[in-house]
Amino acid sequence: MLEAPPLLLAAFSLGLVLLVLLLWHSYSGFLLIYWNEHVLQPLYNLFMGDTKEQRILRHVLQHAVAGDPQSVLEAIDTYCSQKEWAMNVGDKKGQILDAVVREQRPSVLLELGAYCGYSAVRMARLLEPGARLLTIEFNPDYAAITQQMLDFAGLQDRVTLVTGSSQDIIPQLKKKYDVDTLDMVFLDHWKDRYLPDTLLLEECGLLRKGTVLLADNVIYPGTPEFLAYVRNSSRFECTHFTSYLEYSKDLRTWLFPASHAGSSAWLLPP
Ligand SMILES: C[S@@+](CC[C@H](N)C(=O)[O-])C[C@H]1O[C@@H](n2cnc3c(N)ncnc32)[C@H](O)[C@@H]1O
Repeated sequence: MLEAPPLLLAAFSLGLVLLVLLLWHSYSGFLLIYWNEHVLQPLYNLFMGDTKEQRILRHVLQHAVAGDPQSVLEAIDTYCSQKEWAMNVGDKKGQILDAVVREQRPSVLLELGAYCGYSAVRMARLLEPGARLLTIEFNPDYAAITQQMLDFAGLQDRVTLVTGSSQDIIPQLKKKYDVDTLDMVFLDHWKDRYLPDTLLLEECGLLRKGTVLLADNVIYPGTPEFLAYVRNSSRFECTHFTSYLEYSKDLRTWLFPASHAGSSAWLLPP
């Protein structure tokens, strides 16, 4: 009888250690990014007197070649995989983006969420002559970085950066930005806007048969309402690409197994 409590305690302690190890194994990537984003980065910003996005731009200006978009992408990828993680779509998912842009050859492309301009540079470098990309970003600091990134990459003539929130700008696209319908939309802003903005795009008559919606991170962090809507709507034909979280080598260290995470393309029937 007297032996039971220490044994139970030992079993409980072992269980606790195993649980912590399991949680660390499953969530270590997430915990590290959270730690970097919410603890280290604010301290670093305070100490350096600038922001991560300004540091990314500075790295590009110092290491990339003006007028060479590929070198801009490589400089951003190098900085964000080696120095500071950032929410760019990154090279692995970027290759899916490249493949879709190459296949669809959009004349009018809309991006929701520009951040530092990585995906805008990525897509704009593949546009055919005369085609254009409109990218919407509501954070004026990020928008300023994006514009400088596009100017440096030599892509400013193909891209219109609009500073404002998607819900305000989408209804203005036809009249103010001379858009008839969109050939492709890249959704990469806050996830709670995926569904309302898709509905808004439909309501404003901006989608046509064949418009491609490419939506990032629909499983993780996840956009369940958007997924349910496009999956259940006869107007959408869905394709799912499995991929990796940006600048993460092994997604299995993240919240979901690899087969559940990544980018998805949602295709309207031709
Ligand atoms: C994941 S980042 C975009 C990354 C970028 N597409 C890339 O791969 O380089 C999301 C961006 O969307 C912007 N954003 C979020 N909600 C928005 C909204 N409703 N309208 C405009 N921009 C928004 C955020 O400020 C942030 O810069």
